[in-house]
Amino acid sequence: MIGKKVNEAFNEQIMHEYFSAYLYFQMAAYLHSEGLDGMAHWMRVQTIEETIHGTKFFDHILERGGKVELLAIEKPQATWASPLEAFKAAMAHEQFITGRINELVAIAAKENDFASRTMLQWFVDEQIEEESNAEKNVRNLEMVGGSGQGLMMLDREMGARIMPIQFPPAAV
Ligand code: FEO
Repeated sequence: MIGKKVNEAFNEQIMHEYFSAYLYFQMAAYLHSEGLDGMAHWMRVQTIEETIHGTKFFDHILERGGKVELLAIEKPQATWASPLEAFKAAMAHEQFITGRINELVAIAAKENDFASRTMLQWFVDEQIEEESNAEKNVRNLEMVGGSGQGLMMLDREMGARIMPIQFPPAAV
């Protein structure tokens, strides 16, 4: 059975993952409004990925006999000064999430919750990819600078992003 402290921290993480989804969904709307449908598509895929992350915590709590309690999700920022600023904000957000995951690892270790520690390793590895993707997007946008042609090419490339993982089946 999952302990109270880990259970509460995981409930909080569900909120952070769903906030991430909300933030990226808002960024998708912003990018659509800028005419960058490929980048918006990239953010829409990211939105779905974040709901999958939240669902992994949700299922782990239920599988371990804990209690899922969904917390309120904050309103995300609604607009950005430029697509580069939006992707910079996404990168900063992923760095924040990595910090959260590291805190969860520390809590699980302190509570001797080895099952959660194992489950969290997936997130430790995932955050390497999440940060790397976010950094790549910022780098590419910085390289393109003010070139309309470069932006169009990048938009087309990002529009080809494929959903890398399947929605997990219900654990209970
Ligand atoms: Fe769920 Fe993008 O970290």
